[in-house]
Amino acid sequence: MEKLDTIVQEALQAFAGVTDAAQLEHAKARYLGKAGALTELQKNLGKISPAERPAMGARFNSAKDQIETALTAQREKIQSAKLNAQLALEALDVTLPGRGVHAGGLHPVTRTLARITALFHSIGFEVVDGPEIETDFYNFTALNQPENHPARSMHDTFYLDDGKHLLRTHTSPIQIRYMETHEPPIKIIAPGRVYRVDSDATHSPMFHQIEGLWVDERVSFADLKGVVVDFLRRFFERDDLRVRFRPSFFPFTEPSAEIDMSFGDGWLEIGGCGMVHPNVLRNVKIDSEKYQGFAFGLGPDRLSMLRYGVNDLRLFYENDLRFLKQFN
Ligand code: PHE
Repeated sequence: MEKLDTIVQEALQAFAGVTDAAQLEHAKARYLGKAGALTELQKNLGKISPAERPAMGARFNSAKDQIETALTAQREKIQSAKLNAQLALEALDVTLPGRGVHAGGLHPVTRTLARITALFHSIGFEVVDGPEIETDFYNFTALNQPENHPARSMHDTFYLDDGKHLLRTHTSPIQIRYMETHEPPIKIIAPGRVYRVDSDATHSPMFHQIEGLWVDERVSFADLKGVVVDFLRRFFERDDLRVRFRPSFFPFTEPSAEIDMSFGDGWLEIGGCGMVHPNVLRNVKIDSEKYQGFAFGLGPDRLSMLRYGVNDLRLFYENDLRFLKQFN
């Protein structure tokens, strides 16, 4: 029975050093288990004389109590340590700033297109659309563009595998598609992407155009000038903006002109225009004796550069957020 105190000391020490629940149960078995040190001692209790037995029994029970209390305490300690570790692992730092929801913004060219269509819409132009993959017929032939025209060469245009289809080089095929299916009066504006084999600071292989077409019984070159000049002055919010119509050539207009606007000390070309060629009207079965009209094609990328003071066209297509964010 002298061993009792030693066993208690040993058990308390053994439990205290254990940090793992399974190991603690092993340690418990060594003292309280069937073959444990305390259980062995209990077997000897029977051999003690009846006089000594109550006192020894009491000592034994208190020893057993001590060991069990220590065991329970250590169990709780291990469990709460485990819980704390898990809590730390899954902790949510509520002081961290949130990630936030970033609303996107409109691309500067998209803004320009919206502004242009809104201005034309306000004077009665309908906004229409056309396919970016065109046939040779709509892109060239129907627009009075002869077979041997240099723009039809393989290296000036992106042809698709069958050679019959191509990425439209201008928005003018929309003129044909619309006139084929509509009777005059026709008054449309058609924005969209166009493609050419061209790439430098002021040319991108993909760029934008906006096509205008007005066909009616009495539409003149004076109307063309009025509409274009008025539009440009409203677009740039400058009543003193000067616009020049410089004689030029397009197969689908006659007469034709380049549209220049004053810029600094000089002039800048921003589009082409002219009176719809009678052959084009004939191609879409519109009576060219009764009807006439004008068409123009403007470069919204160029207009965006001028309006926002951007000096390199490629910036619009690099998708660098540092650049794009400045417009929103
Ligand atoms: N489609 C011509 C071009 O891309 C521009 C244009 C449109 C000219 C309409 C006249 C009339 O160069």
